[in-house]
Amino acid sequence: MATWDLSKTKHHILLCNGGSCMQKGGEEVTVAIRQEIARLQADEQIHTTRTKCNGRCEDACVVVVYPDGIWYQNVQPEDAGEIVGKLVQGQYYQDKISHRYRGDGFVRNEKVALGVKK
Ligand code: FES
Repeated sequence: MATWDLSKTKHHILLCNGGSCMQKGGEEVTVAIRQEIARLQADEQIHTTRTKCNGRCEDACVVVVYPDGIWYQNVQPEDAGEIVGKLVQGQYYQDKISHRYRGDGFVRNEKVALGVKK
């Protein structure tokens, strides 16, 4: 159990640990991203949380960055350096973004499955 001081946190990364993501390496992605945050000594600015399913299983492994509103798809452990490294620089790893928040909704990368209506 921990109660972290979030006063210097700029980004919150949700690491999907739902069933579909775990079948596609979610544990390895989780470990790789957390290791990269530690390697870059970015723990104060980037907080992470393991989550259950985020509802975009076709995109597994899913990683979400808030409050930035960036959703990543098909994340592999080897993407950790780009995702975390760019985030520390205030940028995003463009290659695997599936959705971006644009004020009144999420804009989907056209190559990503639309999904079913809620
Ligand atoms: S298990 Fe990750 S989005 Fe469903």
